[in-house]
Amino acid sequence: MRAWTVASPDDDLRLRDVPEPVLRGGGVLVEVLAAHVPAYTGKVVTGHRGGLPVPLTLGPSCVGRVIEVAPDVFHVAPGDIVVDTALLDAGGGDEILVGWVGLGGSGAGGERTDRMRAQWRDGVFAERALCAKETVVELPGADAYPDPARLAFLPWLCIAASGLHAAGPLAGRDVAVIGATGQLGGAAVLVALAEGAATVTAVGRGQAALDRLAALGPRVRTHRLTGDRATDAAGIGPVDVALDALGATPTPDPTLAAYDSLRGRGTLVLVGGVRQDLAIPYGDLMHRRLTVRGSWMSDNATVSTVWRLVRSGLLDLSAVELLTVGLDRPAAALDLAERTTGLGFVALVP
Ligand SMILES: NC(=O)c1ccc[n+]([C@@H]2O[C@H](COP(=O)([O-])OP(=O)(O)OC[C@H]3O[C@@H](n4cnc5c(N)ncnc54)[C@H](OP(=O)(O)O)[C@@H]3O)[C@@H](O)[C@H]2O)c1
Repeated sequence: MRAWTVASPDDDLRLRDVPEPVLRGGGVLVEVLAAHVPAYTGKVVTGHRGGLPVPLTLGPSCVGRVIEVAPDVFHVAPGDIVVDTALLDAGGGDEILVGWVGLGGSGAGGERTDRMRAQWRDGVFAERALCAKETVVELPGADAYPDPARLAFLPWLCIAASGLHAAGPLAGRDVAVIGATGQLGGAAVLVALAEGAATVTAVGRGQAALDRLAALGPRVRTHRLTGDRATDAAGIGPVDVALDALGATPTPDPTLAAYDSLRGRGTLVLVGGVRQDLAIPYGDLMHRRLTVRGSWMSDNATVSTVWRLVRSGLLDLSAVELLTVGLDRPAAALDLAERTTGLGFVALVP
């Protein structure tokens, strides 16, 4: 079959013919219907986001149709439409993302995560994929969904939702999303609106993307980042919940502006790719009873919740611009993905 693979640390992402995946214990064989190509996939391939277990077929998550399951798999069956979340958790902080970079716990990995990555290495940028059963969640009724490729955005919605849920229920609360102009941030805006936030302040740099978010409805406010912490804090808040979904920024200031924008008892959740240390004022956090949380990927229960929001129409995916690519030109696809942010995303339809 055809797949996007990386052969060695200095290799590019290439289309290659690879052997068909062979079903084995704990495995779910899926036909890949569509897979989100994250905006920063090019940086993952060039090693700027940590080491890939090469050689591998790349790709962290997809929506697929189950072809066959191993005899010890009971929660999904052939014909089911499923999401593959990539997250394989052995407990005790040993977690891997199959087909991608990123390790749970301290992020350093160890002997056990090495063994996990040896067993479950290949991702989903391919015609078919063998997924670990723990990474596969059924989407009941999804065979009737009119545009399955759009469902490739579900994993990003679920990551955003897990982050927002770390701050508690959203209904009637004021929420800010920092980096709302990115794909994870845009997903967070959609989830917060669907879950009844009173207002959602979309924060980012790009005016066109902010305008598009504002058009989602009257509960959306926008703030264009100025780079000045005090000005940004005043423009963002006051809010009960701030979710930071920024990519790598040169300073911690936008994240700290989000912290400053919190009301008393508010929560800042970190889900982005910021590689900065945060100087949190001890007395302020204590006296204002603030919470700072981290959130990584999503649990399977959140996948089911988000799917029900989509299936019921509470979360309308028609607001998201879907750009589809095939397997033929991986470099062009990565280019397109990098240029596609805001409420747009690239899905590989193999
Ligand atoms: N916690 C998790 O489980 C999890 C899962 C997936 C991804 N992530 C992380 O989330 C991050 C965002 O992912 P994504 O898919 O949303 O990527 P993306 O679409 O590329 O979005 C990046 C966001 O960061 C902003 N940004 C980048 N550089 C900036 C700068 N110098 N100053 C201010 N804003 C800046 C962008 O603003 P503009 O639109 O103005 O460029 C955009 O809003 C990634 O870095 C990834 O590592 C975390």
